[in-house]
Amino acid sequence: MKTILIIGIGTGNPEHLTLQAVAALNRVDVFFIMDKGEAKGGMIDLRKDICARFITAGRNYRFATAQSPHWDRHSGAYNAVIDGLNRDKQAIFEQMIADDMAEGETAGLLVWGDPSLYDSTIRIMADIAAAGRHAIAYEVIPGISSLHALTAQHRTTLNTVGQPVEITTGRRLAEGGFPAHTDSVFVMLDGDDTYRRFAGDDSLDIYWGAYIGSPDEILISGRLQDVAEQIAQTRAAARQAHGWIMDSYLLRRVRRT
Ligand SMILES: C[S@@+](CC[C@H](N)C(=O)[O-])C[C@H]1O[C@@H](n2cnc3c(N)ncnc32)[C@H](O)[C@@H]1O
Repeated sequence: MKTILIIGIGTGNPEHLTLQAVAALNRVDVFFIMDKGEAKGGMIDLRKDICARFITAGRNYRFATAQSPHWDRHSGAYNAVIDGLNRDKQAIFEQMIADDMAEGETAGLLVWGDPSLYDSTIRIMADIAAAGRHAIAYEVIPGISSLHALTAQHRTTLNTVGQPVEITTGRRLAEGGFPAHTDSVFVMLDGDDTYRRFAGDDSLDIYWGAYIGSPDEILISGRLQDVAEQIAQTRAAARQAHGWIMDSYLLRRVRRT
C-alpha cells in the first residue's frame, strides 16, 4: 500500500500551517509538486520553504516535480475544460505514484488553502483509488482557506447573524446576479472584475484581498460604489507587476440607515 497525504497549507503565510499539517509533513517521504510555470514559481518556493521550516532536521524527504497540464479555461464549456484538466492531472499523479514512490512509502501533496474548496486534488485521489490500478490510501488535512484568510484580515465575519452565505465564482455571479436568498456572497476565481457590475447598487459593501497571507497582500474594503474603481485599478497594476494575481472578495448587502 502507498499512502497519499493531501495537506492544506493555507494561502501564502507559512504560519497558516496547522499542527496537524506539520505532523503530516513529517510523515512524508516524497512531495509531489505540480509546476504551473515560471510566473507562479514563487508558489513552489513557498512549498519548499514550508518543508525546510517545519520538517524535523535530519529527516529525509525528496521532491518529485511534474509540469502541470495546461488547458485554456476559455477554450470550451467550463465544466468540460475542468474535466479534461483533471483527467490529465490524474494521469500525471498515477505516473508519479508508479515511478516516484516505493511500496510502503508516503507521498505528500501540498494544496493551496484548504483542499475541500475549489480544488480537485481530493476528487482526483478518489478516482485513482477507485480505478484500482494502484493500491493507495489517502488522507486529508485541512488548511486555512482564502475565505477564512480574507475575513480574518478584514476583521469581519463570513455570515451575518443567522444568515446563509453563498460561495461562488465570478463567472456564476455574472450569470446569476446577486443571489436573493443571502446577504453575503464570497467570490473566487474571478478574472473579470465581476463586482463592477454591481457598483450601481448602493446597498453593497465589498471586502477585497489579493495575495492574502503573503508579503504582497493588498486589502481594500468599503462601500462598493466608492471603491470598485480603486480595486479595479489596483488589481490591474498588481497583475501586471506580478504576472499573475490571486484575489477574492466578500460582497455584503447592508441596510443603510
Ligand atoms: C483554485 S481556487 C483554490 C482555493 C483554495 N483551495 C482555498 O482554500 O482558498 C483559487 C482561488 O482562490 C482564491 N485565493 C486563493 N489564494 C488566495 C490568496 N492568497 N488571496 C486571495 N485569494 C486567494 C482566489 O479567488 C483564487 O482564484
